[in-house]
This record gives sequence, structure tokens and C-alpha cells, in this order.
Amino acid sequence: MNNKDKAIGVFDSGLGGISVLKDLVQSMPNERFIYFGDSANAPYGIKTKEEITQRCVEIIDFFLEKGVKAIVIACNTATSAAANILREKYLHIPIIGMEPALKVAAEGQNKNTIVVMATPLTLKEDKFNNLMSKYDDNNTVIKMPCPELVNIVENDLLDDKEVVHNQLKYYYKDLNMDKIDSVVLGCTHFVFYREYMESLLNESINIVDGNLGTTNHLKEILREGNELRDNDEEGSVEIYNSSNDERFIKLSQKLLNR
Ligand code: DGL
Repeated sequence: MNNKDKAIGVFDSGLGGISVLKDLVQSMPNERFIYFGDSANAPYGIKTKEEITQRCVEIIDFFLEKGVKAIVIACNTATSAAANILREKYLHIPIIGMEPALKVAAEGQNKNTIVVMATPLTLKEDKFNNLMSKYDDNNTVIKMPCPELVNIVENDLLDDKEVVHNQLKYYYKDLNMDKIDSVVLGCTHFVFYREYMESLLNESINIVDGNLGTTNHLKEILREGNELRDNDEEGSVEIYNSSNDERFIKLSQKLLNR
């Protein structure tokens, strides 16, 4: 098979990466996508780096068997734990990772208060702390670990307004909303909460995520390598999940169409 026609592998610890997949499909409708959700092993945010790396290796090997031209780690946590190791191991394939979009929220800002919602592991790792050190001289950056928001998505409770509102209110209970300028959704599961966040936060608060940046980055890499499929070709999406419970594939479809 010509490299152009190969699929793009997209994976996450579970269903969060579907929020990225959605943007990828919208931006590159002629591509073939293979999504792998590792729901049997979610959440990653409370695992060790080694455990996460091992899972990523297994998932990438699965993609390589299928034949892919690029891989998107649609997970901030897996990127901070394993992206460098994976890029060293799989030299021949582009691996696109994600990080909380703090740069988007903070660049050019002064004395802003920026809340970064992410998993405990993302917030603890050097990758994020190095990024944060570039911006926290001029701004106040508040780390907000939110592991429960991952479980809410994985358990199909995203439409349970009471559960979601209570959880979000709990995270923000000690913060003065009038002092917040931006909120970064630094986990791909959290992108599904955007509307909830808009109703919880003041209208003036800027809510950012890294999905568009990741999409544009992948498109650029494929364009440079002349590996984008032609405009008249039909795209497709195949979804796999490590859990045997069929519910996860149905839930993935539901989130993709949300
Ligand atoms: N969706 C993932 C992220 O972007 C992680 C969720 C998890 O803890 O499994 O960070």
C-alpha cells in the first residue's frame, strides 16, 4: 500500500482522545483513522510512567501491524510519561503528542491567573513543570488535578448534570472566579466539559484546549511529507477498545457524534 493511503493511528487511555479524533476528522475528512481507547486500563493519570509506557508500546505495535503513516497520542498524560521514549524507539514514524495548552493561554499575557486542569501525572511530570516555568514569572499558574473527570466520561455520566456540576463546583470551591483569566483543559477527556465550564465560569474567562494545535501540527507534517490523501477520496474511522465491554465502542461513537 502506498504510504499516503495508510491510516492514522490515534490513541488515548480511554475515550478522551475521541475529542481529538473529532477535530482530526473534521479537518482531514479524506483520511482513514484508527482509534484505540485503552479503557480497560484507564485512568492513566494515577499510574506510573513505566506502566503507561508499556501500554503505549503495546498500542503502537498494534497500529504498526495495521499499517499506519502517523500516530497521535491523543492524551496529555501519555505524552508527558512516554513520548520521548516512544520517539526514540519508533524512529521511522511521526509521533505527535499533546501538552496542556498553557502557551496559548499565557503567551503575551501579564499578571494573568491561569488554571490548568489536568491529571495528577501530567501536572507532576517535568514536561509540564518546564513549560510552566516559562510562564509563571509573569502570571499565576494554578495546577488543578481532576482525576474524577476522567472517570465520569468513562462511566458515561457526562450527561448527568448533577454529578458533573457537583464535581466541578468542588474543584473551584476555594477559587475566586473574578480573579481567573483563563482555564486550560489539559486532558483530552476534559474537552467534553467545555459547555459545563462555560456555564460555571464567568463569561470573560478564556477556555482553551490543545486539540486544534494538535490537529494543525499533524496536518502540517503530513502535508510536508506529501502524505495527505486526495480530496476526492473517502475517509473512514475504525474504533477499537481494550475493554471487552461493547459499551465502550458504543460510547465512543456517541461521543464522536456529540
Ligand atoms: N485523556 C488523558 C489526557 O489527556 C488522560 C486521562 C487518564 O487519566 O487516563 O491526559
